[in-house]
Amino acid sequence: MEIAETIVKAREVVRSWRSRGLSIGLVPTMGYLHEGHASLIRRAKEENDQVALSVFVNPTQFAPNEDLAKYPRDFQRDSALCSSLGVGLIFHPEPLEMYPSGFATYVEAPALGLNLCGRSRPTHFRGVLTVVLKLFNILEPTRAYFGLKDAQQFFILKRMVTDLSLDLAVVPCPIIRESDGLALSSRNAYLSESERRAALVLHKALTQAEASVLAGETNSLQVVSAMKKIIAQEPLAKLDYAEVVETKGLTLVNEIVGETLVALAVYIGQTRLIDNFLWKANNK
Ligand code: PAJ
Repeated sequence: MEIAETIVKAREVVRSWRSRGLSIGLVPTMGYLHEGHASLIRRAKEENDQVALSVFVNPTQFAPNEDLAKYPRDFQRDSALCSSLGVGLIFHPEPLEMYPSGFATYVEAPALGLNLCGRSRPTHFRGVLTVVLKLFNILEPTRAYFGLKDAQQFFILKRMVTDLSLDLAVVPCPIIRESDGLALSSRNAYLSESERRAALVLHKALTQAEASVLAGETNSLQVVSAMKKIIAQEPLAKLDYAEVVETKGLTLVNEIVGETLVALAVYIGQTRLIDNFLWKANNK
């Protein structure tokens, strides 16, 4: 396994793969890897000749009041996991390698970035799009793998790939959960024991919402207010948003028909967690 800290070195590795006609699966991450990331790596490994993974805690997607400085990091553990899963290249740049002095060009987020996380994190998706476009340009993947845990991120990135005519496929991957239902996240490391228990409220609200839709509820307001009630019953939880959107433009919908995303962001203590379920009309 190669580890590249510079763009030049990373390009050398991927160009040697490409010159041999090998396909490349890319898994962009911010590190502190868990089973959710591992599932993306395994899928990329199955579908491509080589897998590249980036570990970069991207400063431009954090607002000044957010957790950039304390975001968990453990590169040794990450690289051991990558090596055991057959990753061929880890790209692990310093912030100045990606954003040298004078850096001034950003990808503007489309309207898909306005609702859900975009409302409470208005500069977040511009940072995500900018760094992911750079990663695509540096690592030239055939396919790139993203988790539906961050469903809005996936839909926005897919839009960017279409709109900017990028020559690669973006592959959505299912949410990986702990056995009790909590969606895996690097930020779960922030939770105390009591917060870890309280964090289950996201999954509880979403599974009850999904059951009600399955039973025929199509009114978004009803679904949202039922979820809000469940969240309100947990003293350590504070709702950021509970929203129901269609998946083309991520606009709010009153009726759950066609493909719909039901998504939550909840503060558990100081830690902001997100989770969702994707409803497809033919689920019924
Ligand atoms: P990060 O939070 O490290 O996540 C990297 C990838 O792993 C994302 O595609 C995310 O959706 C996926 N992932 C995280 N938890 C998951 C879970 N429980 N199940 C399935 N997939 C999961 O998302 C980012 O980093 C950054 O925004 C990034 C795209 C790397 C740009 O900086």
